[in-house]
Amino acid sequence: MYNRAEVIQKIIDHTGAKRYLEIGVAHAETFLKVKVDHRIGVDPERPSQHLVNAFAQVMAQSLNHTPAIHLGCNIDRTDISIEVKNCSQPGQSADMNAEAEGTSLQNSTQYYQMTSDDFFTQADTIVGPLGIDVAFVDGLHEWKQAVRDVENCLRYLNNGGVIVMHDCSPISELIATPFDRLEEAKKDPKWDGAWTGDVWKAVAWLRSAHHDLRFTAFNCDWGVGVITRGRPDSVLRYTRDEVAELPYEKLDQNRSRILNLKDPSNLDDFVAALPVLGQPKEEVEPAGA
Ligand SMILES: C[S@@+](CC[C@H](N)C(=O)[O-])C[C@H]1O[C@@H](n2cnc3c(N)ncnc32)[C@H](O)[C@@H]1O
Repeated sequence: MYNRAEVIQKIIDHTGAKRYLEIGVAHAETFLKVKVDHRIGVDPERPSQHLVNAFAQVMAQSLNHTPAIHLGCNIDRTDISIEVKNCSQPGQSADMNAEAEGTSLQNSTQYYQMTSDDFFTQADTIVGPLGIDVAFVDGLHEWKQAVRDVENCLRYLNNGGVIVMHDCSPISELIATPFDRLEEAKKDPKWDGAWTGDVWKAVAWLRSAHHDLRFTAFNCDWGVGVITRGRPDSVLRYTRDEVAELPYEKLDQNRSRILNLKDPSNLDDFVAALPVLGQPKEEVEPAGA
């Protein structure tokens, strides 16, 4: 059984992804675990102590070990962005793989304290022409927001890039409570804090509206969805209004079909079939040639 960070890492390792975006960072459990060259995190909450400690440790080590370092910190009343960047010239060494509480902050890590919608209004400048190789959508668990996050990520996703979406497969109606009824759900005696919201409806809509996207959900860690550009295994044909009205029972009765749900034992083969980033596409011999 894999968790989300393991799924993301397998994808990064296989594709050679260098640029990672995480929407919804929370305590940085995944953000700091994932090993990748460039990381951008977006969350309206202040960075967790765990993340601040990691930044502080890297800054301290960097200041000790290399003169060629750029530290950036912008704080105004509402937004905070911190950047630690290795600006060493060729020939100079800078060890940015500082270990902090079992995690590492590598060449470049940025945290933007803002909503994903605000982030994407500035993403041309922040993400720039180098784009994103792997995005992890795990922000507000409300289906229309999750759809917006995926569609915005697609605007910056490099060829062969991958979007991972968390919380696609809730196992009870309570866990799948929509955001606007969350406070009510918390009063339920069965409430134990697990909440995916109705992200599963984002899957239903994306698989209905984007027949140029391949969506596969792995049945682990509350459903880890993987989106790539390309021909889907199968499609759905719900209208947006129908998706809005879908009851949880519909998911429960048609989970495999709605989510294109796969057992995690298929993950390695799935990842192995993903294209390696930056490689020219293999020429396919025309039939009969
Ligand atoms: C489930 S947590 C993220 C967990 C994290 N990705 C991990 O793997 O450990 C969801 C996060 O989304 C953030 N969030 C809520 N609304 C958001 C929004 N509009 N844009 C971006 N992040 C949002 C919350 O503050 C929260 O930290």
